[in-house]
Amino acid sequence: MNDDSWRARKVVIVGAGAVGSTFAYALAQSGLADEIVLRDANPDLAMGQVLDLVHGQAFFPSVQIRQAQVEDYADARLIVITAGAKQRPGESRLELLQRNVKIIHGIMDEITLQKSPAVVLIVSNPVDILTYFAHQRSGWPRGRVIGSGTVLDSARFRHLLSQRCGVDVHNIHAYILGEHGDSEFAAWSMTNMAGMPLEQFCRGCAKCDDWQAARRQIMEEVRHSAYHIIDYKGATWFAVGLALTRIAAAILRNQHGVLTVSSVLEGEYGLTGVSLGIPCILSQKGVEKVLQVDLPPDEHNALLKSAAILREIIGQLEAVAAA
Ligand SMILES: NC(=O)c1ccc[n+]([C@@H]2O[C@H](COP(=O)([O-])OP(=O)(O)OC[C@H]3O[C@@H](n4cnc5c(N)ncnc54)[C@H](O)[C@@H]3O)[C@@H](O)[C@H]2O)c1
Repeated sequence: MNDDSWRARKVVIVGAGAVGSTFAYALAQSGLADEIVLRDANPDLAMGQVLDLVHGQAFFPSVQIRQAQVEDYADARLIVITAGAKQRPGESRLELLQRNVKIIHGIMDEITLQKSPAVVLIVSNPVDILTYFAHQRSGWPRGRVIGSGTVLDSARFRHLLSQRCGVDVHNIHAYILGEHGDSEFAAWSMTNMAGMPLEQFCRGCAKCDDWQAARRQIMEEVRHSAYHIIDYKGATWFAVGLALTRIAAAILRNQHGVLTVSSVLEGEYGLTGVSLGIPCILSQKGVEKVLQVDLPPDEHNALLKSAAILREIIGQLEAVAAA
């Protein structure tokens, strides 16, 4: 039992759109939270989602669900930010980014004004960039302002390996690292099946004619997963809702789970001034430890490349803000 284990496990979700509401639904079913409060710039949407969810209370484990006030940040355990602006016609990527940084700054200011003790989890995209700016704005220890990183991408990776290798997804440890986006990469050196390194597992297996081509194909599929779903239905929300519930479990239950959340780096892997998906130990404090994995040179280089891409965008945004 830790000191404050008696306190309500209260989760504030900012942004009650597709991702925020699906997360609320998954979280309510999980029984992890005592209170789930929803906040949205569109209060009618937040109210509609709350009413729809509370009508399911008879079927959920006990949980309070209601619309949030700004004061709700003051005693929240976890604040999950899924709020984001959509691209306007004619708007450049950088302009959209500036608007989203502004949204995140505004929300972080409200949270810090309430002297919130919570861990803040950024989900809005581009998640690594927004995590970096949210952390900067907060002035908090880096462990308390984190992003969902490549937790979803790693789940997609495990699913594809499971299908290819014919092994239950739960027996596969595998991680996608770096940016949640195009420069992400598979840490093949860390992949294992039921405790066996991938090389050992694949020995004598005839499922792939050309294992290098198979690896490239799997990585491409992971990288393009979101684009495929967006082509079919416009956005993604189910798997991310579950990935967020997994992250919430590690924080609310102080589980010390290892997840590839986005964390601001302070010299790990030779990197600073950037936030990206890397294996971290997660507890009620947020990121307790960024794991320093001995990556082989090709994977370490891929991480540096991913960080450089993110740093360049951060630099552009900082230059615009300073002008
Ligand atoms: N990190 C991941 O793995 C991952 C996966 C899927 C989606 N996403 C991202 O999650 C975000 C949300 O996606 P969605 O499909 O739910 O979008 P959505 O448009 O359905 O919902 C976004 C909501 O944010 C609200 N909002 C905007 N500004 C706000 C503010 N200042 N305060 C409170 N609410 C505000 C909007 O009113 C809207 O309801 C997007 O940025 C999306 O790219 C991330």
